[in-house]
Amino acid sequence: MTSPQRPVSVTTLAAMKRRGERITCLTAYDASLARVMSEAGVEIILVGDSLGMVVQGYDTTLPVTVDDMLYHSRCVARGMAQAAGREPLLLVDLPFMSYATPEQAMHSAARLMKEGGAQMVKLEGGAAQVDVVQALTAQGIPVCAHLGLTPQSVHKLGGYKVQGRETEAAESMLRDALALQRAGADMLILECIPSSLAARMRAALLIPVIGIGAGADCDGQVLVITDVLGLSAQPPRFALDYAELHGAPRQAIAAFIDDVRAGRFPQAAQCFS
Ligand code: KIV
Repeated sequence: MTSPQRPVSVTTLAAMKRRGERITCLTAYDASLARVMSEAGVEIILVGDSLGMVVQGYDTTLPVTVDDMLYHSRCVARGMAQAAGREPLLLVDLPFMSYATPEQAMHSAARLMKEGGAQMVKLEGGAAQVDVVQALTAQGIPVCAHLGLTPQSVHKLGGYKVQGRETEAAESMLRDALALQRAGADMLILECIPSSLAARMRAALLIPVIGIGAGADCDGQVLVITDVLGLSAQPPRFALDYAELHGAPRQAIAAFIDDVRAGRFPQAAQCFS
C-alpha cells in the first residue's frame, strides 16, 4: 500500500501499476465532492470536460473552454485542500481545440497548472498528438492520453459508440498507444472499447492504463461522478449507480474504490465483447 501521508504523484501511479494495485479515478467539478472523494481515498480526481454535459447541460463537450476548466479546477483544488488524508492527483482535461498545436497546448496546459492547480493534463487522440505530447512532457508537464471513444471527436466518430472492434482499428489504437508512451505520456485512459483490446494494451504498455467501459483488465477504473451517484439522466451502460445500492455518496464512492481494488468492478454487464 502507498503511504497515507504522501500526495499521489505520477511515480505513485507507476509504482501501483508495477505492483498490480488497481488505481481509482473519479471526476469532480466542485469543492464538496472533491473533499468527500479525497477523504474516501480515491487516487486521482479528474476535472473532466464532461462538465460541459453534466454541469453545463450541453449535448457534447465541445463548447467547454479553458476558462470553464480553470473555474472548476480551482473549485476542486480548494475542496481537495480541505480534505483530511492523502491528497489525490489532480488531473484536468484540455478542452476541445485548446491543444491544436504544440504552442497552443503549452499555453493552455500552463494555465491549467499555474492558475487551476492541475498536476497532470489530459488530451484526446492518437498518433496525431505525438508532437503535442512531446512538447508538453519536455516542459515537465505530465500528460494523460485518451483513446477509444474520444468525446471531443463525437461528430467525426458519428456518435458515442464502442471503438476498436475491427481488427485494423484495434491494431491502429495499439500503435497509437505505444507512440504516445514513447512521446512521454505518463498515463492512458481507454474509453468504451472491447475488454480484450484493453487487456492487450495494458499488457503492452508500461504506463498505467485506466479504463472506462474498457473491461476489468485495466490498471484502474474511472467513472463520471454523476453516474456513480445516480444523478445522470441517461447513464452509459458501462457505469454503475453506487448511490442506489448504498444510499450515500460517501459510501458509494468508498464502494467503488473497494470494488475496483478487489477486481469486482467492472462486471460483464459493463463490458463489451
Ligand atoms: O471528461 C471526462 O469526464 C472524461 C472521462 C469520461 C474519462 O474524459
